[in-house]
Amino acid sequence: MDVVGEEGVNDVAAAACSSSPAQVSCANLKTPWTRSVAAFGEVIILYKNHTDLYEVKLEEEGIFHHMYGDFCHKDLVGKKYGTKVYPSIPRLTQTGRRGKKRRVAPTSRGGHLYLLCLTPELWTVALKHRTQILYTLDNALISFHLDLKPGSVVLESGTGSGSLTTAMARVIAPHGHVYTFEFNEHRVKEAKRDFEKLGTNGSITVTHRDVCGTGFGEEYDGMADAVFLDLPSPWNVIDAAKRALKVGGRVCTFSPCIEQVQKTCAALDARGFKLLRTFECLLKEYEVRTNRYEVPACVAETLSETKGRRFEGADPIVISPDEEKNVRSSKEKKAKRQKLSVEQRIEAGVVKVFGAESRPRPSMAGHTGYLTFASRYADDN
Ligand SMILES: C[S@@+](CC[C@H](N)C(=O)[O-])C[C@H]1O[C@@H](n2cnc3c(N)ncnc32)[C@H](O)[C@@H]1O
Repeated sequence: MDVVGEEGVNDVAAAACSSSPAQVSCANLKTPWTRSVAAFGEVIILYKNHTDLYEVKLEEEGIFHHMYGDFCHKDLVGKKYGTKVYPSIPRLTQTGRRGKKRRVAPTSRGGHLYLLCLTPELWTVALKHRTQILYTLDNALISFHLDLKPGSVVLESGTGSGSLTTAMARVIAPHGHVYTFEFNEHRVKEAKRDFEKLGTNGSITVTHRDVCGTGFGEEYDGMADAVFLDLPSPWNVIDAAKRALKVGGRVCTFSPCIEQVQKTCAALDARGFKLLRTFECLLKEYEVRTNRYEVPACVAETLSETKGRRFEGADPIVISPDEEKNVRSSKEKKAKRQKLSVEQRIEAGVVKVFGAESRPRPSMAGHTGYLTFASRYADDN
């Protein structure tokens, strides 16, 4: 397949020069993740929670429609990153967690979102998934073990949704370059559009190519500090990777199955790669939430003693079942609870504890796979 677009050899030459800071173009110096105030033309993140966050490119007439209401882009511009933002036009009817419609008071400002500066970590959650993607934990391990730093030149295939490409671009910018190769034409176009939108296109070149069939191309011979492969059969690209790598360069492959890893390791070993290591990288995230427990009185005593240590911010509250039955409104219940002394609470028999707890998230973004790393040394080693 052909190289798409006007990039290609010229960009290779530009990157070859780019180890000299004096020759770095201004475009390369612009990175989207270093700003403090939102401005037109930037992609920002509107954050509701860990899983509900939205990427928005700020445009003069733009409006972001959300269940809380309509956020006019012009009202977001000039705001500091990290601040709460309210809809310009709040929605008066909102759909609750269980799908129930509820009316919001006309005086309400609507719910708030947080205005955040784009980072590769947030981009990984917010981006449109066109393929399986690599998540933050893998991305971090890859950057570390490939020894990426500002100025590094990386070859990657396939581009997929560009999650890893974006993360690597942040590490190698402003003086380095990521050349990423993808054989699906539609994904090439989408990736180019995303990188332009993000302002990372100065550090990334996307090329339409089947690397299993044609390798990376001889114009890349000996110029890569690192090669990364997320392909169904990476063992078919090890020769091409070796040709592209500088002596001392590192290669990494990502494969979901151990049989793929075995084939890749055999190919790496046969081509003289050294320091082979395979990692399985599993993410375990915890979420903190306030929950309600009913515990017997004897436990309550211990809890009140340890209050503030095991249950940070927890206030053990006791209300007897009889009392609970007699009290209807939550306001009244609250008043009753507040009247009880600690001793009374414990005596009452049933204890309700409102405490902070943390537990692993039921579903975690990240899919299991193996990362294999190796070093290319001079052939006579
Ligand atoms: C799992 S996706 C990569 C996801 C990417 N690492 C990310 O984080 O978004 C694998 C990609 O490799 C591409 N691909 C598969 N075989 C290829 C080949 N021989 N040459 C180039 N790209 C290929 C696929 O089209 C697909 O987009």
